Formats: sequence, C-alpha cells, structure tokens
Amino acid sequence: GTYSEPLRPQVHYTPSENFSNDPNGLIYANNLYHIYHQWNAKANLPGYQNWGHATSEDLVHWTLHPAAITPDSEDGPFIFSGSAIIDFDNDSGIFNDTTASDNRLLAFYTSASDDKQTQNIAYSTDGGYSYTKRPEPVIDIDNSQFRDPKVFWYEPDSKWVMIVSLASQHEMIIYDSNNLLDWTETSRFGNVGQLGYQYECPDLFPLKIEGSDEEKWVLITSVNPGAINGGGSATSYFIGDFDGKKFTPVDLAVHEMDFGYDNYAGVTFNNIPDGRRLWLGWSSNWLYAAEVPTAPWRSSLSLVHELSLARVNLTDQEESLMLRHKPVDLSTLITDTVKETSTSTNSDSVEFPTDGAVDFTAHLSFNSLNSNSSSKSASRITIESEDAQNSIEIGLQFSDHIAYINRANSGWSNAIFESVSATSIHIPDDQKVSLRAIVDHSQLELFIQDGIHLGSMVFFFEDGRVPARLHYSNDKGVQTDYFRLDALKSIWQ
Ligand code: FRU
Repeated sequence: GTYSEPLRPQVHYTPSENFSNDPNGLIYANNLYHIYHQWNAKANLPGYQNWGHATSEDLVHWTLHPAAITPDSEDGPFIFSGSAIIDFDNDSGIFNDTTASDNRLLAFYTSASDDKQTQNIAYSTDGGYSYTKRPEPVIDIDNSQFRDPKVFWYEPDSKWVMIVSLASQHEMIIYDSNNLLDWTETSRFGNVGQLGYQYECPDLFPLKIEGSDEEKWVLITSVNPGAINGGGSATSYFIGDFDGKKFTPVDLAVHEMDFGYDNYAGVTFNNIPDGRRLWLGWSSNWLYAAEVPTAPWRSSLSLVHELSLARVNLTDQEESLMLRHKPVDLSTLITDTVKETSTSTNSDSVEFPTDGAVDFTAHLSFNSLNSNSSSKSASRITIESEDAQNSIEIGLQFSDHIAYINRANSGWSNAIFESVSATSIHIPDDQKVSLRAIVDHSQLELFIQDGIHLGSMVFFFEDGRVPARLHYSNDKGVQTDYFRLDALKSIWQ
C-alpha cells in the first residue's frame, strides 16, 4: 500500500496490506513502544493469523516490521491474540546471561487449531523483532474456545498473573505463576453483564481515581457477537478490587466502553515507565470487518488513549465511576488551525484541508428558557463529501441527554452495518457539553465530556470521496460557544 488510498486513515495505524484485527503484545521495551496485532500475512481476509509488528517513539508515528510470530504451517496452528512482558530477572529460566535484562521479551499467545486452543509462549532476545516459539503450551485445558492471555506483574505479591478467556462459557480465568511456565488457577469471573456469544480479549489493571490516591481495578471483556450495542462486537468493563487472586466487582453495573460500533479487542500496554495506563483498540466489528471496501488492507487501530477513572455525578443518580479516554497528543501533526472562534454561534460551515485528517472541538451550552420545548434542543454536526452525496452526522440532544452518530448516508454498508448508535450522556447542571472528534478519512473517534463517553465509528464514502467539510446547526436555546478545527498531516509521509 502507498497509504494514499482515499479510504486509508492518515493518523491511525493500518498495516500496509492485508487483513488485521486485535492489538497484541503491547509493550514499552528498550525506549520504544512495540505493538503487535492479528494479521493475515497472505490475504485481505482473516485466516492465516500472525502477529504483525510496528514500533513507535511517540505513539503517533509507526514503523512497520516483518511479522514477529508466524504459524508453523499454512494450516496452523495460528497465532491468536495475547500479550508480552519483559522477564527482567529471567524468572522463566529461558534466557541466559548474554541477553541483557531489557531484551528478555516473552510473548504469550493462543495457539489455535480447529480442535484446541492453548496458551503458548515465544521468546525474543533481539528487542522484540523476532520470536522463537516454544513447542509445548504453558496452559492446555483441552478446550477449543480458550484464548487471549493477558499477563502482567503483580507487585504486592511479586508474582505474575494471567487473565484468559474461556470464551464460550463467558468466563475469564485468572492464574498466577512465579516462573511464567507453571500456572495455577486462582479464580474465575464471568456470567455477568452482557454475555453475547463469546467473551474474548480480557484485560485487568489498576487505575487511580482522578483527584485521589484511591485505586480501583478495571476488568475488560470484549463480547462477540451479540453485544447489546449493535448486536456485533463490543467492549464492556467492570470496576472492582483485585487481591492478586480474585477480582471482586464493586457492583454488577456493566459499562460499555464505547457507544459506537467500531471499538473491539482493546487492551492496555505493559511496562509504561511513567505509570500512565495506555490503551489501544481495533476499530472494526466482526459483523463486517472482512467485507469493508478497503484494499489492499482491511481494518485500522484506534489512536492510543490514556485511561483514567472519573467520578461522575450523573443527574438524578448516584455518583458513579467511569473510564475516561484521552487520546494521545496530536499537536505535532497540526499543520493549520483552520478555524478557531470563541464567539457564540448557531451554525457554521468549515472546509477541511484536502487529504489530511481533522481534529475539531466544540463547546456547547443550553439555555432551556430560550428553547423551543417541542424540539430536541439538538446540536447537529454533519461531515460530508465534496459533492455532499455522502455524510456522517454527530448529534447531541439536550432535551433527553442523548448523543448519537448516524452513518445511514455514509456510502458502503452490508446487511448488518448498523446506521445509528446512541448513548445517554452526562450533562452537568451548567448545561455545558464538550465534543472532540478526530475525523480520519474512514474513521471517526468522538470524545464527549473530555472522554467520559467515547464514540468510534468507521464509514466508507463512495467512489474515492473523502470528508471535505462540516456544517453544524443548533436548535433554539443551544449555542456553540467555542469551535476549533485543526488540520492534521499524515503520519505516513
Ligand atoms: C478477537 C479474536 C480473538 C482471537 C483473535 C483471532 O477479535 O476473535 O479472540 O484471538 O480475534 O484473530
């Protein structure tokens, strides 16, 4: 790929060619961020699953490398999702003294054949570029739907912990180990929240509650298919406590990570030196991932997001904890601030630069005294192609606290390419709402109220059309008090 195809995202990661899905093995090692991802090294369809590989110094620009872990044969077993750690102290005994401690990378992946899925390891001594598979699994429970190990260091007990999905049984199994090779089951968590068909790609990590020293643990499960949100693939999370053996949720509230349809299989990085919790997701949905009209590649990843736990005082409800997503700093990509105004307006149009992506922010406010009670008191932002034939709309309704994204008129669709996704949003007493959107050719990431609501959607304008401008217009009583739109240059130039 030349990275100049009209539908090709310019600030999001895509492989140069072929089908890709889940992020895998996210880790900071030797002064570089490494990402691996599910990747078919041979075709633009899922099947021959490898770990594709890329590195970055800034989490914005990516350098592609050859696949890091590849199957033994054309017929598998395939290299399914998993995680990576650095075995600094050689707990596994796999490394020898000639390998610097920083270079002792171990990948945990699922070895997937038709009749069985096992948890396996591969080791790297060259900084994460090439891995050697160990033939024998580290965990084999003779199950064909058992996958996606996430391994991390549990400091309080100086031990390793793994969380892995028993997919068809809607359970996550937690194991612990001192030597990374022998694993003991300590507990299970599951059959709560939305079940769908299967649970995949678990993660478990501590997170500070903003403005306090208190910490809670977050357990992520990806559900596919049959997620409540759109019937396909979606990510939910639970908040609770973890004692090194067992996760106990604070309540059984199931939180949706994203109200859009294109955020799946996301997990967090290991070994981030400054303690930030960085997350990366796959921006597609199994309902159509293998059919979307892009070539020679299919699927992109999200931007890297920093996560935190926000205490949100939901109107007429109790205080609740929610994940906040903050996208990585994109300021180095800004070529031009196309528009910035602090004058309150009701409507406007803004042309996009050609070929790039855009990042825009709108601060909205609502005054019910000026509103028309028969309307939804909405603000609508329509992003359209040059010829206005294709568009995608972002809407925010103050009357009923709803935000939505509508891609009904966006071009390509298949039988279950849901058009509209909506969510109830938090509107504080001051009736102010902030929106930030990154619009990147065929990909939208929408952050509402500083990222306590996330809306990720892909869309495919027809015939080489790309988003060329936006219009916004507000119902009576709704004002846009601040608007800014930045042009972003491609990360691939
Ligand atoms: C999630 C998933 C994982 C599996 C991988 C295979 O999207 O189904 O459970 O490991 O994709 O590519």
